[in-house]
Amino acid sequence: MVPPVDVRLAILTVLPVSFFVITALKKFIEKKQNRPSLPPGPPPLPLLGNILNINTKEPWLTYTEWRAVYGDLIFARILDQEAIIINSQHVAEALMDKRSRIYSDRPYLATLAPYGWTFSFVFMGYGDEWRLNRRLFHQTFRPDSSLKFRPMQIRRAREMILNLIDDPEHYHSHFATFSSSVVMSAVYDYQPSARGDPRVRVLENVLDLGLRVMTPERAVILKIFPFLLKLPDWCWGSSMKCDAQVSTNRINEMMDVPFRSASQDMAENSLPGQSSMVAENLRRMEKRDEAFKPTFETALKNSAATAVVAAYETTSSVIMVFLLAMVFHPDVQKRAQAEIDSVMGKDQLPTFEDRASLPYVDAILREVLRWEPILPLGVAHRTSSEDLYDGYFIPKGTAVMSNTWAIARDEKRYPDPCHFMPERFLDINGKLTDDDPAQYVFGLGRRICPGRYVADASIWSGVVTMLATLDISFAKDDQGKVIKFTPKFTTGIARRPDNFPCRILARSHVHSEFVDVLRSTE
Ligand code: HEM
Repeated sequence: MVPPVDVRLAILTVLPVSFFVITALKKFIEKKQNRPSLPPGPPPLPLLGNILNINTKEPWLTYTEWRAVYGDLIFARILDQEAIIINSQHVAEALMDKRSRIYSDRPYLATLAPYGWTFSFVFMGYGDEWRLNRRLFHQTFRPDSSLKFRPMQIRRAREMILNLIDDPEHYHSHFATFSSSVVMSAVYDYQPSARGDPRVRVLENVLDLGLRVMTPERAVILKIFPFLLKLPDWCWGSSMKCDAQVSTNRINEMMDVPFRSASQDMAENSLPGQSSMVAENLRRMEKRDEAFKPTFETALKNSAATAVVAAYETTSSVIMVFLLAMVFHPDVQKRAQAEIDSVMGKDQLPTFEDRASLPYVDAILREVLRWEPILPLGVAHRTSSEDLYDGYFIPKGTAVMSNTWAIARDEKRYPDPCHFMPERFLDINGKLTDDDPAQYVFGLGRRICPGRYVADASIWSGVVTMLATLDISFAKDDQGKVIKFTPKFTTGIARRPDNFPCRILARSHVHSEFVDVLRSTE
């Protein structure tokens, strides 16, 4: 039924008047608080905020689109969570680094405790527990300490080449073995077997569930509907509760088994010469006060597991991006191989001593990190007190996301940003420029990735050894036709290319004797 004219008139009058009253009231309250305005951002809906406008699977794409309208510092609401999105390295440094006193906390993730992830200091709030965990980690992975892992990293990279030559089809599994064997050696002195290692399988299962739910955009569902964890098993929607239980069980297994076996070795006095993170710290613990031991032991166990989890997916994902780039860019691969051959000849494999002579390989590494960032929004920080920046008010408790994706795709800094082009990191003399994506892909401030030195060395040793020994190209079908494909990526807090068809062959000079030499150095 159409309302009578006077009712319609009343509605037409009341609507603008109430809008005016609300706006005036809001301005009045703000003025009263003498508070400057929030950074610009899309208008939020009541209760929902901006969630309906965000691509929750790939939120960095939405945030990058918003940059064109709102700029480098954007304010948004994800349901009841206030958030700022930073779209430039300059603003990220100004806030997260220069004001790290305010910007080093982590937002509360409702998925963390139910899924068993409170062990990881990656997601811990800024405080004493985080500090102790990070200190233990740093002792092993800081620049000078991590140098001792380099010969092991080169050895593991060569083992990876053998696996790739023997069984090229399962390349992702070999990258995963490489990545886990480096970090498990460094942390527990454990050497996983090349295929089907039980500890690696547990780790894969932990990450498979965890990475999908450890984002503010996903965790918010559980924050709003906590009863989802209480539903009976038969009820529709109870899958979250079951997943959370499975995740917690897997995490317990992942943490307990290696730590228990390292502690047993210690008790049997079979770790004297070992320099892994756990062995070194268990020895240090012997000299500590009895009262401090339980806190120390828990922190060590947590910090060790954090290292393994943080290293595993990141390192192998970056190598996946490298492989993808090499399939699509044979010209880049040829140029890198020519550089390596000219420095090394064809009878030797590169080691870290050769790195400075191989700038094009390093340019590839930088472009791999920039081209398809594996952590496109880093890991969110949170403000621990309110702040004022560039005339804008940033409330206490705001989630802070540095949009690595937007920084890496900035057309002014990186012309034709979707194109894989390592040359953008070389000057006219073929020397590396000052622009290194490591300045932003590893995060910023007090929470900056503490594993970045070991990550860089692992990735370099893997990439340079692959370039020196393998030819990577599109796969061909039975008729010899190239199999073209459009790359797809996993989503969640971290992303990597889904498996794709490709051909991996030993380079022509890598004949059987050469492979035998590699095998003998295993
Ligand atoms: C290319 C590989 C890697 C990338 C791109 C990467 C990137 C990141 C980023 C963006 C953060 C968040 C920093 C922030 O909050 O501002 C982070 C944190 C962290 N990363 Fe990495 N990472 C990589 C490899 C590694 C490796 C190999 C390890 C372990 C050996 C590791 C251990 C950690 C830890 C423990 C944290 C948490 C730091 C904290 O909250 O205090 N990462 N990483």
